[in-house]
Amino acid sequence: MLAVVAAVTVSATLAGVVAITLAMVIEGRPKNIVLTVVAIGGLVGLGVALVNARTVVRASRSLVTAVENVPPSGRFTPPPNPLPAELRTIGAALEQAYERLRLGRERERALESARRELVAWVSHDLRTPLAGMRAMVEALEDGVADDPETVKRYHVQIRVEVDRLTGMVEDLFELSRIHAGSLRLSLARTGLGDLVADTLAAVEPLARAEGVRLSGEADPHVPVYADAGQLGRAVRNLVVNAIRHTPAAGTVLVRAAADGTAARLSVLDGCGGIPEEDLPRVFDVAFRGEAARTPGPDGGAGLGLAIARGIVEAHDGEIGVANEGPGCRFTITLPLRRA
Ligand SMILES: Nc1ncnc2c1ncn2[C@@H]1O[C@H](COP(=O)(O)OP(=O)(O)OP(=O)(O)O)[C@@H](O)[C@H]1O
Ligand SMILES: [Mg+2]
Repeated sequence: MLAVVAAVTVSATLAGVVAITLAMVIEGRPKNIVLTVVAIGGLVGLGVALVNARTVVRASRSLVTAVENVPPSGRFTPPPNPLPAELRTIGAALEQAYERLRLGRERERALESARRELVAWVSHDLRTPLAGMRAMVEALEDGVADDPETVKRYHVQIRVEVDRLTGMVEDLFELSRIHAGSLRLSLARTGLGDLVADTLAAVEPLARAEGVRLSGEADPHVPVYADAGQLGRAVRNLVVNAIRHTPAAGTVLVRAAADGTAARLSVLDGCGGIPEEDLPRVFDVAFRGEAARTPGPDGGAGLGLAIARGIVEAHDGEIGVANEGPGCRFTITLPLRRA
């Protein structure tokens, strides 16, 4: 384009001057001088335009090559030779765009591997208790275990395992409904105070067994439009986690309050803090902390927080976590009113 502009300008000027001289407006020496000056000016202009044009073309080719050579890892390396200012801006924009793409792809890969791990863990978590139950049932069936005490113990153990497996299958079902977008909420005016009271009553036996003190502070008049059953499940997941991660004699504080536009429900525990690098991942499916790769008998499947987040987001709310005081604080924020 640069070369075309220069060529057009030069030829238009030349044609004009030649026409003037032919029309004999200028004659003799002045005519030769004018023609020479215009010819030299035209040639120099053309030359400079060609050099510039080549530079731009070469730079834009090197930019195209850099884009074509982006490795599968998705990191864009700008061309080694310096670019003209205009192309430099494009190069910087490309670099940013590729970086965003790369981060997105990395996140997707992490989620995909979490999902694969979930399948592996779930099958492991189902198989181990099933094998145990099978052994106990066989012992009962064959009469190998026949003293009343052992029979009773086996029955209790089998029921505990069945309860745990039922909970896990229910969680998986809930999560698949959330992911499939088929979670149907029956929204109704719900008092957050009642919700907190119900949740605390439901988890009280667990807290007593763990020696953790439960405390609730709720403004009774915080009305939200919510599905009480689903939201209760999300809050219960947070409180159960808090109790499990708080050492004996610690306190778990549940607080519900409202300010102008939003209702906030928070659960503060005494877990000693979650490592900073884990904070963004705790809501991922199947995440259960580095220390818990092989979960103990009451270790969960890493579904609770993913379910809580799905439920809260279905309510147009937000869920977050931050380290605070002796532990961490999980907070659910819900819009106060919905049309
Ligand atoms: N209150 C908390 N304090 C400290 N760590 C927590 C807390 N809540 C969650 N975590 C960390 O986040 C992980 C994920 O929690 P999540 O509730 O999703 O799964 P889980 O409790 O392990 O299993 P599930 O809830 O399915 O029974 C936990 O394994 C734990 O490492
Ligand atoms: Mg949990």
